[in-house]
Amino acid sequence: MSRKNINIGLFGFGCVGYGLYEVLQKTPGLKANILQICVKDKNKERPIGNEHFTFDKNEILNNENINTIVELIDDADAAFEIVKTALKNGKAVVTANKKMIAEHFEELLELQKQYKVPLLYEASACASIPIIRNLEEYYDNDLLESLEGIVNGSTNYILSRTAKDNVSYAAALKDAQEKGYAESNPILDTGGFDAKYKLLILLAHAFGIVLKPDDIYNIGIDKIGDLELNYAKEKGYKLKLVAHAFKTGKHKVSAFVAPRFVKPNDKLFNVDDVYNGVVLETAFTEHQFFVGKGAGAYPTASAVLSDISALSYDYQYEYKKMEANKRLQFNNEFSVNVLLKYPVESLTKIKLYFNHINELYQNNTEGYLIGALDFSHLKKLNSIEGVSIIIESVEQNPLKKLEININQIFELNEIN
Ligand SMILES: NC(=O)c1ccc[n+]([C@@H]2O[C@H](COP(=O)([O-])OP(=O)(O)OC[C@H]3O[C@@H](n4cnc5c(N)ncnc54)[C@H](OP(=O)(O)O)[C@@H]3O)[C@@H](O)[C@H]2O)c1
Repeated sequence: MSRKNINIGLFGFGCVGYGLYEVLQKTPGLKANILQICVKDKNKERPIGNEHFTFDKNEILNNENINTIVELIDDADAAFEIVKTALKNGKAVVTANKKMIAEHFEELLELQKQYKVPLLYEASACASIPIIRNLEEYYDNDLLESLEGIVNGSTNYILSRTAKDNVSYAAALKDAQEKGYAESNPILDTGGFDAKYKLLILLAHAFGIVLKPDDIYNIGIDKIGDLELNYAKEKGYKLKLVAHAFKTGKHKVSAFVAPRFVKPNDKLFNVDDVYNGVVLETAFTEHQFFVGKGAGAYPTASAVLSDISALSYDYQYEYKKMEANKRLQFNNEFSVNVLLKYPVESLTKIKLYFNHINELYQNNTEGYLIGALDFSHLKKLNSIEGVSIIIESVEQNPLKKLEININQIFELNEIN
């Protein structure tokens, strides 16, 4: 099969955009050229000549010599307008923008169908790990039971530092910001939203399910304090922000993002710093484990490059599982074992949500308990001031509620 020439209109020349420019210089076998680059700031100094740049998106979007738009900007709303117009104009699109894709997934599917042009986005989830194309092409949906991953590099860096270097959460976050791994307003990462957007994209290719961001509940790492960090250390666990999707029945899939205690025998235990890792569980292979850098100029640009290369062979996602899996439904009917930290005045309210409480430790101001509850209660509990939740494990079947009498439960006056 002969390769098509790819004439690129590039949007964004920041970390990933410039990374792609450099990576393309080093891959001459690929017949791909950047014809024009659109950026925003007219006063910024650029590492290459001004003749390459425009500030008018339409110059690129209406350029008939350009057959492919590579969208690498940091503004999801502007990105959607660019991608929409590009597809309408019959241009193939490559993007790394998970927020934009997650917020407009259905509309983007429709646009691809209507205008018969491909949209590829391997870099949008786990950067250098080729997980989307593997899910799309290799895994027959019936065989895939679960997908569990560390999909956000900045939170993993922060949590790794707290574990390895004994620093507080606040100090680790500051360090991540200084190194450029976390934004000055880091809530997209630390609140678990970025991981949720990626999980939404992975769900579409793993199980053929299309959701809206609000359908997937995300708990971030932003409420974690010394108590949880010390608990993890004492038990020999690591704290990780984990995105998890799994079958809860023949035609049911559940998914969520939350901080987890990860044990040493878990494949994700050694996925540290800005690395990402994904564990797939299938009927016949048991576990398969993908690991690689989840951020950074070259690792992300390498996934963008792979999409550009795929376009040169006219590759497009077929979304086969969406057709095959029409009966698959999304639900949150499962229970979880958690460690929950609470202010003492909230205990009476909190215990009502639990099916079991196994241990409880409390001093005059705060306490923590370990117990099991239906996942559907987590949202309400997490919204209580001062509450922080870490998942210990998932029980795929809902549990029966037992009579809970806090006086029967082991109490301590001091928290370590
Ligand atoms: N960085 C990573 O490791 C990584 C990993 C995976 C995915 N991604 C995704 O890749 C995308 C780019 O991230 P990045 O880290 O490269 O961002 P970045 O370093 O902040 O660069 C953003 C670029 O977008 C340009 N831009 C912003 N708004 C624009 C507009 N309306 N029109 C034209 N250009 C515009 C900026 O122009 P100026 O230069 O004029 O300011 C800048 O060149 C994002 O969607 C991000 O989520 C990044």
